[in-house]
Amino acid sequence: MTQESTTAAAAAHDEGRAAAIDDRGYLMQLVFGSLAAHTVRAAIELRIVELIGGKERSAAEVAAEAGTDPQATLRLLRALAALRLLEESAPGAFSVTSAGALLDPGTPGSMASMVASSTFMERIMQPGWDHLADSVRTGDTSFEKVFGKDFFSHLKDHPERSAGFNEAMSQATRGTAAVLPGAFDFGRLGTVADIGGGDGTLLAGVLREHPSLNGILYDTEEGLAQAPETLRRDGLADRCSLVPGDFFESVPEGAGAYLIKSILHDWPDDLCVTILGHCREVLPADGRVLIVEPVLSEAVDPQSVGLYLGDLNMLVNWGGRERTRSEFEEVCGRAGLAVESVTRLGGPGGLFCLIEARAA
Ligand SMILES: C[S@@+](CC[C@H](N)C(=O)[O-])C[C@H]1O[C@@H](n2cnc3c(N)ncnc32)[C@H](O)[C@@H]1O
Repeated sequence: MTQESTTAAAAAHDEGRAAAIDDRGYLMQLVFGSLAAHTVRAAIELRIVELIGGKERSAAEVAAEAGTDPQATLRLLRALAALRLLEESAPGAFSVTSAGALLDPGTPGSMASMVASSTFMERIMQPGWDHLADSVRTGDTSFEKVFGKDFFSHLKDHPERSAGFNEAMSQATRGTAAVLPGAFDFGRLGTVADIGGGDGTLLAGVLREHPSLNGILYDTEEGLAQAPETLRRDGLADRCSLVPGDFFESVPEGAGAYLIKSILHDWPDDLCVTILGHCREVLPADGRVLIVEPVLSEAVDPQSVGLYLGDLNMLVNWGGRERTRSEFEEVCGRAGLAVESVTRLGGPGGLFCLIEARAA
């Protein structure tokens, strides 16, 4: 072996070792991912980002205002800096990054309440995840195994959990409610119905932007429990009727478009066909079914990791699934609907798409 080849071999060995350490570090990060979520939630609970504000603050200063232990606070700030929510701009001095600023309730587009409500969602979703491998073995949801009933029947028996779920959905839907009104010509309709519309956050967003439009909000009794307050707050109570019911039985007549957001992914194909079939039965000739959901790319897109984990969440907790465009076309086709277009909503709507379907 020459000197050069020995040096090259040593360099390749070092590189391989560094890559192996990186791979091991990456796996460790994945396995302990829930610790990062707990760290972010503690930051919200202790109002760390608000206390730092636009300044550079030391852990001692933050601890004095938060009423926390200085040494433990320093450890929390370091972890938040490693998670890129804070930055250690000078030794011992921390400032807030642009991602961290989203934890401040005062920041436009803040995600603070969404993070806070995620604590509730994690508690209700985590037990199902403990049985993910079983769900993969059987293809069945694990929620029923743990709670004895399917997700929505469980909520029906626990009004306080139902209220927590409705609030979490409302938080998660706000981004979509900001972009959907501009993504379709709602102005040409007299009435739009939101099927499984929950507390009305999405429909209120559409009605606010289109003053001549009326709304029908359709959901179960417990799904609608918080809706009167949402509509009253937005001054929309007289433009929107609340209709309790079961979308496996029927959906209300009288709308030119049927919005259906984050519903189909809760259910297996046959039940989606039932829901869409009821929309098709009452759809006027020029009407549209407006499905709002993420759409999986045909080949895996590693940028959308949240979507693939969300898909597993649908498996373990609801028995539903995320779908590709061709899978949406198939369930729509079976319900007598044809997909006309699929548009990525973008902006704060994140990964959501608008799938426009008409009578086939
Ligand atoms: C995942 S949430 C979506 C809520 C809302 N569309 C959104 O995106 O914020 C599912 C909704 O479906 C409603 N739902 C579940 N089963 C239903 C049924 N059989 N009939 C009508 N609504 C139902 C739930 O009450 C809940 O509001």
